[in-house]
Amino acid sequence: MKPIIAANWKMHKTAAETTEFCRAIRKEESAFSGVETLVCPPFTALAAASAALKSSHIKLGAQNMDYESRGARTGEIAAFMLLEFGVEYVIIGHSERRHQMGEDDDLVRRKIETALGAGLKPILCVGETEAEREQGSTEQVIKKQLSGALEGTEAQHISSLVVAYEPVWAIGTGKAASPEDAENAAALIRGYLQDRFGSVSAAGTRIQYGGSVKAENIGSFVSLPPVQGALVGGASLEADSFSALLKAAGEAVAN
Ligand code: PGA
Repeated sequence: MKPIIAANWKMHKTAAETTEFCRAIRKEESAFSGVETLVCPPFTALAAASAALKSSHIKLGAQNMDYESRGARTGEIAAFMLLEFGVEYVIIGHSERRHQMGEDDDLVRRKIETALGAGLKPILCVGETEAEREQGSTEQVIKKQLSGALEGTEAQHISSLVVAYEPVWAIGTGKAASPEDAENAAALIRGYLQDRFGSVSAAGTRIQYGGSVKAENIGSFVSLPPVQGALVGGASLEADSFSALLKAAGEAVAN
């Protein structure tokens, strides 16, 4: 199973900047063919990314979607609109949406259900805040987020799911989790999925680490047995730094 590395651009990049980035990174793609790579631009740049990545191995993801299939939902984006641009993955429950936009586990669950029903592969984000970590409740928080988000999910769909462990205190801070912390959390997630869906079904689910990942530290995460990829914010914004990160990940998994 190839590791999956996703660029989460958040609220950055115009359509023109997206085209430029995608053209630059495609030139390098043979150097990281051992890694499944995707970019998640803002909605307004999906068309540009889709055109610039045509016939490339680099895939397309979205950063969010609505839980309704269509309807009177001003300002929202539905799964079928993402599919029109060849979007394959969708980030759901990112901590910025949980904490800044008030998304709770139930909303995350509805989005996961809709995404899977539409044939999109969700990247479900979980992770504890600094205060929760200090209280020693990391495990409890992760389990609650998983059980809330996956209530009602059927085992047959679970191999389409990616789970990103992103400790909130590590996102955008330059202070990545230690490999030990990432390994423990990923093992906990893997164990939860196995108990809930059975080891055969859960074997297809990839678990990413996210939070201040860069070219210099990616190798220490993707070489951990329970980690199969990364969700990358800051270091994915420049084609040079992202392609250096992808090459480093490819080398780490090949060794
Ligand atoms: P970061 O963001 O790599 O800038 O820490 C990660 C994320 O939010 O997914």
